[in-house]
Amino acid sequence: MRADLATRVGAVAVDGGSFTPATPMGFRLHHVIEAQDFNRGMLDQLFRIAREMESVHEQGGNRCLTGKIMASLFYEESTRTRFSFESAMHKLGGSVISTENAKQFSSVSKGETLEDTIRILNGYADIIVLRHYESGSAKRAADISTVPIVNAGDGTGQHPTQAFLDLYTIEKELGHIDGITIAVVGDLANGRTVRSLCYLLSKYRSIRIRMVAPDVVKMRDDIKGYLARHDVVFSEETSLEDVAAEVDVLYQTRIQKERFGDREEDYEQARGVYVVTPEVMARMQRGAIVMHPLPRVDEIDVAVDDDPRAAYFRQAQNGLYIRMALLAACLGADIARA
Ligand code: CP
Repeated sequence: MRADLATRVGAVAVDGGSFTPATPMGFRLHHVIEAQDFNRGMLDQLFRIAREMESVHEQGGNRCLTGKIMASLFYEESTRTRFSFESAMHKLGGSVISTENAKQFSSVSKGETLEDTIRILNGYADIIVLRHYESGSAKRAADISTVPIVNAGDGTGQHPTQAFLDLYTIEKELGHIDGITIAVVGDLANGRTVRSLCYLLSKYRSIRIRMVAPDVVKMRDDIKGYLARHDVVFSEETSLEDVAAEVDVLYQTRIQKERFGDREEDYEQARGVYVVTPEVMARMQRGAIVMHPLPRVDEIDVAVDDDPRAAYFRQAQNGLYIRMALLAACLGADIARA
């Protein structure tokens, strides 16, 4: 791993894809900012710990983070990310400090900068989970923070912890990630989850990505360029029905109304174009799955929920295990001795 990446993600030394067992878990992270900072060895380690966390969860939790405090600093709405991080911290014996809505109820409403807020929280918390409305904000926070910053979504930038749980879900559901064909569908221009997922998929072998998006929200060139440079086969398609028949994973996303500003016409053009219906499911292979980072609006028909291939609620549950693993890895927990 390059030295600059080692500093940014704060991972312990990597040697041929494995990690120096410098911590009881053999794996230590510092900041979690961008998906592309993670290599395959790190993902394998993270998923190994997440599997252990599933057992910890089944046993009611443990105390490996007793005495540690997590600040959840969310400037944008969240159900899954915030509650799963907070639940993860509680499950591991730690404490949580938070504000209902950082944009409205923290001193940012009086004009305080993100940097000053982070400096202050450095004195109160051992780790900060940050969701912010500006792309690049997590990196800004990490540049000055003395405690780990976890990017819980930065504008239209990235959502790396969602991508970790997405890959964990694929591995759990299909038994492998190498060699899959995946359709990414919906708002590919504004969807930070799908952007992070594309970065991570490039770490695996023989991946084929089919992109299906309305014209106004097609995948941006930065991701397409990255995939091309990393020899990932991808194509832009228009027929969801045709694509559904050939994929192992159909990853649907919401058209992100909040990112359109006053471009209401563009939103109306994008909304409802690609919907996963029972008819689309009928085209899919028996062993394929449908995923969605959620929340959904109308892009997956609720009639699909009863199909065993609908994996999106299981996917959200996996978020708890991945976030337990991330907190333990960032805070150097000894889960074996908890
Ligand atoms: N997937 C996701 O980030 O959901 P929330 O916005 O509810 O956290």
